[in-house]
Amino acid sequence: MSLLNKHAIFEKNSILLCVGVLITVAIGGLVEIAPLFYLESTIEKVKGMRPYTPLELAGRNIYIREGCYNCHSQMVRPFRDEAERYGHYSLAAESMYDHPFQWGSKRTGPDLARVGGRYSDDWHVAHMNNPRSVVPESIMPGYPFLAEYSLKIEDLAGHLAANRGVGVPYSDEMIEKAVEDARTQVNPDADDFDAFMERYPKAQVRDFDGNPEKLSELDALIAYLQMLGTLVDFDLYAKDPALR
Ligand code: HEC
Repeated sequence: MSLLNKHAIFEKNSILLCVGVLITVAIGGLVEIAPLFYLESTIEKVKGMRPYTPLELAGRNIYIREGCYNCHSQMVRPFRDEAERYGHYSLAAESMYDHPFQWGSKRTGPDLARVGGRYSDDWHVAHMNNPRSVVPESIMPGYPFLAEYSLKIEDLAGHLAANRGVGVPYSDEMIEKAVEDARTQVNPDADDFDAFMERYPKAQVRDFDGNPEKLSELDALIAYLQMLGTLVDFDLYAKDPALR
């Protein structure tokens, strides 16, 4: 009874009520937010993640430029139907170098977070040229011009540097060699091959668009699509709880 009486003070005085609400909300906020400042990172580290190669980053820029995210998400949700269709659900660390991230919620087409390695390069070339040639019922638009446009690589160092500005650990060397590395990734015979692989472990090196004469925008886009979701080794991840 006495407690209820005290409550009446707040109910009869609106200013006091506001102050009371403010204090209560502030305590709730502090309890939720303050611990986050003492965590080193809210993203658990996962083996295998590395920054995008310059070519993959260029492909990602094209992906954003063309608005592929309007129809495709890049996050496998942790539900059974999703995991059975697309593979292991996405980890936060898998998009730690994405600025901006491409998670999305609009799925006119399938999720692409694990599309890497699912199809051959030839399939992608045909699909990007005209999706109906490989998936007759597809409503995806074709992007035939990507094979014709030469990739603009002169500004790649700038793109790497901008990403470093927001926390992606590109080294001075990576930035310096950005243009060369983009060329190396479509040419396994390049002199710089070993150094490139050291900079970007697990990078896939080959001519992606089927036209070795030209470093095209399609080369970059397919290099990007083929690496999506392939960096983390989930067999290893399942076996070794320390990596979880
Ligand atoms: C208007 C919506 C739309 C846009 C925009 C779009 N797509 Fe698609 N995409 C689809 C649909 C629908 C499918 C499923 C049918 C098919 O495979 O063509 C698809 C399928 C795909 C697939 C095969 C995925 C799989 O697992 O089978 C890839 C890869 C892909 N799209 C890449 C892209 C890229 C890259 C872009 C941007 C250059 C893009 N899409 C733009 C609708 C879209």
